[in-house]
Amino acid sequence: MLSSPPIQAKADTARNAATDEAALDPDAMRQPLPDAFYCVGRSDTLKAGSLRAVELNGEQIVLGRDKAGTLFAMRDRCPHRGMALSKGRFDGEAVTCPFHGWRFGTDGRCRDVPTLSSADAADFSRIVVQRFPIRESAGFVWVNPYLGGASGDVPVLPALGFEAAGSLVVELVVEASFDLTTLSLVDPGHVAFVHDSWWFRPSKELREKVKTFTPTPHGFTMSSHSTTTSSPVYKLLGGVPEVEIEFRLPGVRLERIEAGAKRVANYTFATPLTHNRTMLTNALYWNMPVLNLLKPLARPLMRQFLTQDQQVLQHAQAGLDRKPTMVLFGQSDLPSQWYFRLKREALQAAREARTFRNPLVQQELRWRS
Ligand code: FES
Ligand SMILES: [Fe+2]
Repeated sequence: MLSSPPIQAKADTARNAATDEAALDPDAMRQPLPDAFYCVGRSDTLKAGSLRAVELNGEQIVLGRDKAGTLFAMRDRCPHRGMALSKGRFDGEAVTCPFHGWRFGTDGRCRDVPTLSSADAADFSRIVVQRFPIRESAGFVWVNPYLGGASGDVPVLPALGFEAAGSLVVELVVEASFDLTTLSLVDPGHVAFVHDSWWFRPSKELREKVKTFTPTPHGFTMSSHSTTTSSPVYKLLGGVPEVEIEFRLPGVRLERIEAGAKRVANYTFATPLTHNRTMLTNALYWNMPVLNLLKPLARPLMRQFLTQDQQVLQHAQAGLDRKPTMVLFGQSDLPSQWYFRLKREALQAAREARTFRNPLVQQELRWRS
């Protein structure tokens, strides 16, 4: 099953949509953005000298952290007979394949083939395991699974703009495509219907919302005119908080809440595991130590919130599997259309080896939620 292709609804102000569509391979539009960093798990769970197998965009990858604390990511496949290197031993410098003992440095180069006799003059240094770019940011590890040539202009990794006193992370696998899952990060229309828990939305009424959307590098931000939210989560901060929500390619939603010196950030990352499985990672960070006390209470609530998305996305995916089209309609679906326009521009920029030019313009949107 492939993720559903976008439908350009009439409301979209895309000027060049028709030409853009023609220029791009439609298959590429159905895939996650190839040349981008995706979240592959928490930094603190990858200790020095440890290995971890992850799946990313259909690729099996082994991550590790060497003795000096430097991360590496390489294909989880021994070139000899295909054995998973993640099943091997790592001494903090080299990985030993458990099948015949070949050793690989963290640079991917073969260091030793222990079964060679001294009479065997074979040069094993040319045997290499494919490596992937790997980074750390906002308490997470990020890997770019792209194997093509460097295009250079990849979206900047999310960073946390303050010193966190604590954080809470929940990860959930969704049996749905990357696009469908990522659309839920920019879809204000589902919130009232899907996230209707008393603690998140005490009122069941739909109210008119007006938000300003501003283009940012590789995405857009949404800011409220005044925070009219009745969410008890915001009320915890006291006063009227400033809320800014940013969406950024490839599938990153960053919600930043400020009230005086108090900071809370709620970050959500979508990671393509396979073509029909996507990991949702939600990280809540705060700078008030007193909130650490609420962690045991907040964890099940966050899990409930993510499970609500998971359930609808899986049912929607089943519908899209039967007929892979969507009708994107009305202003509350414009951010979803923008997602496809941003992705299309990123693909086109990479193809033409030029920098990304954000096709969006500042705009005010109205909807009821
Ligand atoms: S499969 Fe890895 S050493 Fe043989
Ligand atoms: Fe949601």
